[in-house]
Amino acid sequence: MTGVTRPHAPVMLTECLAHLSVQPGRWYIDGTFGAGGHTSAILAAGGRVLALDRDPSVRRFLDADALHEGRLLFAEGNFSELGAHAEHLGVAPVAGVLLDLGVSSMQLDEAARGFSFRQPGPLDMRMGTTGLSAADLVNHAPQEELASLIFRYGEDRYSRRIARRIAETRASAPIETTEALAETIARAYPPGQRRDHPARRTFQALRIAVNDELGALQGALEALERTLAPEGRAVVLTYHSLEDRIVKHFFKGSASLTLLHKKPLLASPDEVSRNPRARSAKLRAASNSPTPRRETP
Ligand SMILES: C[S@@+](CC[C@H](N)C(=O)[O-])C[C@H]1O[C@@H](n2cnc3c(N)ncnc32)[C@H](O)[C@@H]1O
Repeated sequence: MTGVTRPHAPVMLTECLAHLSVQPGRWYIDGTFGAGGHTSAILAAGGRVLALDRDPSVRRFLDADALHEGRLLFAEGNFSELGAHAEHLGVAPVAGVLLDLGVSSMQLDEAARGFSFRQPGPLDMRMGTTGLSAADLVNHAPQEELASLIFRYGEDRYSRRIARRIAETRASAPIETTEALAETIARAYPPGQRRDHPARRTFQALRIAVNDELGALQGALEALERTLAPEGRAVVLTYHSLEDRIVKHFFKGSASLTLLHKKPLLASPDEVSRNPRARSAKLRAASNSPTPRRETP
C-alpha cells in the first residue's frame, strides 16, 4: 500500500512471516488487522488475506488495490468467530492464522477511546462499538467483582483497596473519565509502593474484562484448530502472561496442533530498542499436524 502511514509498527514481522511459511496464492487469516503491517507483508509474499478486526476504524489501512483484486478481504468482527467468517467468505480451510493480541498504538493514542491513564478521556476501553464500557463496569459492578478482576487480570496486590476506594468514590458521583479513575486508584495505593503508575494494572484489568480478551482468545484457538488446512500454521503474539499461558496450554493439549518450539520466541534486542512495545511480546507457533508418537516396541 503506497502513501499510507502506519501508526503501529508490526511486532516480530520477520519471525511471524517465517513461521506462517507463506505460500503464494494460499489464504491466511490475520485476526488482528490493526494498521495492517502483518497483512501487508503476507500480501507482499504472495499470500491472500482475510483480515478481521473488531474495530471498524481500521478500514482506513486496507490496501485498495489488493481489495479490488480479491487478494484481500476484510470482515469487522471478533476473531473468536474466525471460522465462521472464513466459511462464509469461502476461504476455509486456510494455510495459516495470525493473532497479534492486545490493543494497537492507534487505540492507545486516541484519548477518546479511553484506554490510557495518561490521557484524559471518557472511560470507554471498548475495541469495538458494542457491549459494556469500562465506565459501566466501574460504576455498576459489585465491589467484590471489581476486586477479583483487578487481581486476576491486573495481578495487582492492592486490588481490594482499589475496589473499596472505587466503591466509596462512586457512591457520591459516578467515575466517568480516565483521569477520575486514575486519581481514585492513586489515592488507594499505599505511599511508597509505586514502581510504575498505580493505575497501570487496573487499566489493563478493565480493558481485558471489557473486551473479554481471554474468552475471545480461547474461542479463536478453538476456531483456528478447526479452520487450518493440513500442515497449516498458527502464529500467536501475546503481551502478558495470562494470554501466553492460555496459548501454551491450548497448543500443548491439542490433538491436531504441534508446537514448533517448546519455548516462546522473543523479539531481538535490536527490535526492542526500536519498538518498546516488542519488549513483552512472546511468539508461539504451531503446525496443524499430529505430534509424531514414539514407536512402541
Ligand atoms: C496489536 S493490534 C494488531 C496490529 C497489527 N498486527 C499491525 O501490524 O498493525 C491488535 C488489533 O486487534 C484487534 N483485536 C483485539 N482483539 C480482537 C478480537 N477479539 N477480535 C477482533 N479483533 C481484535 C484490535 O482492535 C487491534 O486493532
